[in-house]
Amino acid sequence: MKKIITQNHEESSSLVAYSIADIVREKKDACLGLATGGSVELVYANLVQFFEKGTMSFSDVTTVNLDEYIGLPPSHLQSYRRFMDQNLFDLVDIDKANTYIPPGMQAPEAILADFQKMLASRPRDFQLLGIGSNGHIGFNEPDSFFGANAHVVTLDEQTRKDNSRFFDSIDEVPRQAVTMGAGDIMKASKIILIVRGENKRDALRELLSHDRVDPRVPCTILKCHKDVTIVYPKELAP
Ligand code: GLP
Repeated sequence: MKKIITQNHEESSSLVAYSIADIVREKKDACLGLATGGSVELVYANLVQFFEKGTMSFSDVTTVNLDEYIGLPPSHLQSYRRFMDQNLFDLVDIDKANTYIPPGMQAPEAILADFQKMLASRPRDFQLLGIGSNGHIGFNEPDSFFGANAHVVTLDEQTRKDNSRFFDSIDEVPRQAVTMGAGDIMKASKIILIVRGENKRDALRELLSHDRVDPRVPCTILKCHKDVTIVYPKELAP
């Protein structure tokens, strides 16, 4: 694992955006695995700036997102489809037909079949990750085993609490989601995890301070990937 320790989250976001831009400049039709959440908003804002300056184009890029809530229509303010459209897709020259967010409104079996088919047909050159305060990646919540493939999860109460800041109340936070499995995430050629926030300190320590892989702290599986970079500000350094 490579570590990049920055002065602050602004610097982390800019570094990650430059890395993504480099991947796309090298391979115009790269497939990017994308993430949602507060930690990645500024990464996308940087990418939008590159596009506006004419230094980056998404015209041949395809994308697959990590996860989606079950039961939120794509138009819902907190659906991950809406997040991606608002923060990136509507602001750059990407062909929306080349973007994929798992369809959270369909029946679980249909969502999973569609998602797994998409993952098989779009091998990812890159995967962007944030991390939950409980160490989750995508929505792979702490458990006694890793789900390898795309699966439906019951969200951890901690995750619902963390994400309730985006909703009017915790009762509105969905109880289920669909996520890439740990195996799907690990299939990306290159992974960058961006860490922001005091509440991620314990998970980051589990990731950086020993070599055990523990499904109760899902991000620790990244220790087994051959090209993973963890970007975090110096104040979170364990
Ligand atoms: C969300 C997403 C994750 C994200 C994480 C962190 O629930 N499913 O993909 O990385 O939790 O979110 P945030 O960046 O808002 O702290």
